[in-house]
Amino acid sequence: ESLEKGGFDHFMLKEIYDQPRCISDCMRGRLLLKEKRIVLSTINLHRNELVNAGRFVIVACGTSWHAGLIGKQLIEQWAKIPVEVEYASEFRYRNPVILPGDVVIAISQSGETADTLAAFELAKKSGALCFGIVNAVGSSIARASDTGIYIHVGPEIGVASTKAFTGQVTVLTLFALALGHELGTIPQQEYEDTIEELGRIPGKIKTVLEKDSKIKDIARTLTYAENALYMGRGYNYPVALEGALKLKEISYIHAEGYPAAEMKHGPIALIDEDMPVVFVATHHQLYKKILSNIEEVKARNGRIIAIVTEGDEAVSDIAEATIEVPPTLAPLAPLLSVIPLQLTAYHVAVEKGLNVDQPRNLAKSVTVE
Ligand code: G6P
Repeated sequence: ESLEKGGFDHFMLKEIYDQPRCISDCMRGRLLLKEKRIVLSTINLHRNELVNAGRFVIVACGTSWHAGLIGKQLIEQWAKIPVEVEYASEFRYRNPVILPGDVVIAISQSGETADTLAAFELAKKSGALCFGIVNAVGSSIARASDTGIYIHVGPEIGVASTKAFTGQVTVLTLFALALGHELGTIPQQEYEDTIEELGRIPGKIKTVLEKDSKIKDIARTLTYAENALYMGRGYNYPVALEGALKLKEISYIHAEGYPAAEMKHGPIALIDEDMPVVFVATHHQLYKKILSNIEEVKARNGRIIAIVTEGDEAVSDIAEATIEVPPTLAPLAPLLSVIPLQLTAYHVAVEKGLNVDQPRNLAKSVTVE
């Protein structure tokens, strides 16, 4: 087993560190940097159904559902096709409306999650095109798919998903870009610039991983906390949800993720000197807005940890601690900003002496309801 961990103490840490390579594997043969083009066989084979889709409905659970929330923003941004994101467990029992022309996307690392599979089968019965975004080749969801894209990040062992999440987001990015290009809804320059920047993402993830010892120090702030809040906006809102989920799963600290502007409708009542608040505040369109949310927390003596873009000054001036990530385009921000949150949860769990790879009560693959 220690051989399989490749010198790391835990599978989760190995999988976090594997991400630059995994993202490259995921993009291989799909992102053609020299030609500045994306090639996806699903778009060649099912072009008509995909470009004419009236709507995408994403069904998923857990971390895969968070990837779906990012996918919604990406597809709506570039392909201008509406997207709904559903918990598979709710969708399957709700008599959902599935319209002609709907494409239902199931996102699943294992390809075996019972609720996601059932939601997918329901969609198939209703006549929707079933599109799988799956890691496990040949799994039940992969077999139930009419088409789809494998994420190709290799087996994930740690119960808390890490590399599968960034792989799912990468696939959704490639798909949304390619679809937008087919439809002519993304400007050519933006398409090419995003392709170039995607090519730089594995290297930028490496840069974030180099900050690990600083992240480990900062994670100590959370070790003795009973609660924590995670806040983000725009593309970083699902990242906040994912950061909170990681902390809950392996560190057993109650954590909630929230869109930062919603803070004033509830979570702000919880803030005092014992409440750590993790802000994902990279330099993108809503930066100024999130800065004012951070100031509100500061005014109430909350303890602020922030993920910021390299060279940030305004947030760094008020936060107790900041972790810098390299600059990137807003739609690609989650691929970088989630890394420090994965590492933070990992270090807190290790510091508390918990079973990182197999947290209590959780299963890697939930094959029963
Ligand atoms: C379990 C795992 C999570 C995962 C979720 C969905 O809860 O512990 O890490 O995100 O199932 O799994 P899937 O295999 O469908 O992505």
